[in-house]
Formats: sequence, C-alpha cells, structure tokens
Amino acid sequence: MKKKSLSNFSFPSTRLRRNRMKEFSRKLISENILTTNDLIWPLFVTEGNKIKDKISSMPGIYRNSIDELIKEAEQAVKLKIPAIAIFPYIDSSLKDSKGSNAIDNNNLVCRSITAVKNEFPDLGIITDVALDPFTDHGHDGLVINDEVNNDETLKVLGQQALIQAQAGCDIIAPSDMMDGRVGHIRSILDEAGFINTQILSYAAKYASGFYGPFRDAIGSKLAGATKSTYQLDPANSDEAIREVELDILEGADMVMIKPGMPYLDIVHKVKNTFNIPTFVYQVSGEYAMIMAAIKKNWLDSDKVIMESLLSFKRAGANGILTYFAKDIAKKLK
Ligand code: PBG
Repeated sequence: MKKKSLSNFSFPSTRLRRNRMKEFSRKLISENILTTNDLIWPLFVTEGNKIKDKISSMPGIYRNSIDELIKEAEQAVKLKIPAIAIFPYIDSSLKDSKGSNAIDNNNLVCRSITAVKNEFPDLGIITDVALDPFTDHGHDGLVINDEVNNDETLKVLGQQALIQAQAGCDIIAPSDMMDGRVGHIRSILDEAGFINTQILSYAAKYASGFYGPFRDAIGSKLAGATKSTYQLDPANSDEAIREVELDILEGADMVMIKPGMPYLDIVHKVKNTFNIPTFVYQVSGEYAMIMAAIKKNWLDSDKVIMESLLSFKRAGANGILTYFAKDIAKKLK
C-alpha cells in the first residue's frame, strides 16, 4: 500500500513542541500515571524480636522480625499501598534437601501472614510458592538424580500453597517455574474450599543475574548451580508467551513478568496478547543498581525511581512489585 502523504500536516504547521510548552498542557497530554494503587511492596522477614538486619547489597532494605514486619505493614496501610509480598529468611538449621520447612504450617511465612492479617485484615498479602528459601541446595524444587524433578516438586508446592492459604494469605504466587504448578495449586486450593484465594503466577520468570541481592537477602546459596532448566532464557520471547498462556489456562488470576526493566517488551506483549491483570517485578538487582548510582550522586533519585516505575506503566503493567514502594508512596501522597 502506498504511504499516504503527510506533507500537509508536517512542520512548520505541525509543531509537537507546541503541546509541551506550558505545564498545564503537559499535564493534559500525559498518557500514563503512577498511583499508590499500582504498588506491591516486597518485605523480608526473619526470626526474633525487634530485629532489623541490614542487607548489604540492598541499602535501605531490612530483614524484619515479625513485630517489625507489623510496623512496616502499618506503614503500607497508612500510605494506602494495596498489598505486601512476604519473603522469609530461613535459619540454615531449618534447611534441608527437601525444603521440609516449606510445608510446616507453623513456619515463618505462615506466622507472618497470620500476624499481619490479625492486625490489618484489609491489607493484601502475597506469598511466594517455591522451595528455594527452604532448601540447602538453593533450588526452587526437589533435586532427584541430579535433576530438579518437576512432578515430585508439584506435590510439595501444592502443600506449601495450601498452608499459606490456611494461614490467611490472599494471593498465592508460585515463583518456581515448574510445569503444571498453577493448575495443581488451583485444584488443591479448590478442594480445600479456598475457591477465592487468588493465584498470581510468576509466569514469565527469566534465569536472571538480577536476582543476586535477593538471594543474599533470603540467605539462599545456589553454589555454582543454574536455574536455567526451569527459568526462561533471557534470549526468548515466544516462549514467555507460551508460559503465560498455559498459566492462564491452568487458572492464574494474574500473571507476572520478572525481572522488570530488561523485559519491558515482554510486559507489553503479554498485556496486549492476553488482556489479563499483568504485574511486573522490579527485582533486587534493579533496586541495587539504581541505589548504588544514587549513593554515588551519579543519578538523581527522585527522577530515576519515578522514571523506572513509569516505564512499567507505559509498557502496560497493572501493578509493580518494587522495593521503592514505601518511598514512592510517600512522594505520591
Ligand atoms: C524465589 C524468588 C526469587 C525472587 C523472587 N522469588 C529468586 C530466584 O528465583 O532465584 C527474586 C526477587 C528479587 O530479586 O527481588 N523463587
């Protein structure tokens, strides 16, 4: 088809800067906006009392004992952040090859959920389903004959999801990338009567180097191993769409892309293809990178944090998991 001539509408009659000249006009033509409704705040929890352990690779982020977690949850409520995501730091004495503590209904995650729910019943709680905080080898699943075994892992993940739902979790978030886990978890939850417990699937989760600081935060060591037999190859995009499609068919209520900034194309594609609530995780390494440059005065914090979060909205995300949630919510007030 011959391209229609736009010559009648080109410079100098058309000047795109005209709309940008005054602030009121820039406001009118603004296409995307970040609000506190878009934020999910990931929080780390550890055993003990009055504990706020620093995480060296994540300045400003702490491992909180449950009493401190409650204080952070109170901040979330005050700042109108809709939901928090809880990640446990499990003492090494409780870790084993099977991740047994993941299915102990009195574990740190379950006690955290119940404690926060008791204080703030309307604050959304999201918890991870994966074995890596609980295994001594650091994999998200069971290792059998030197392989992360898919179908045996599903059985454990189903139990892990169930005890989290029983503890009061609103949204179960499988982050393990086993095949079939969303469908399996959905059926376990439904059979137990948890028909309204939502599933947010880490549907397109890449085998990324940007998770490094998170593994420090939860004390998970992979010891030279790779998660590439279950997490996606950073080179792939079609495969991400297939992952998301399967998770939706298995019953995911919401899907997530992770990491964030290096995968904005995937966020855009997923949202446009499936029109499903789509979330993105600005992961620990992204936070660490931005914070490191801010600390050196190489970047302006207010500008780059907002810009990074707005890029997710522009790509089509409905919400963002970000370690900046508390700070940005204060700014948005
Ligand atoms: C566990 C999990 C990881 C993250 C969230 N859940 C790490 C991993 O898969 O190795 C990363 C979050 C972050 O880096 O902020 N399966």
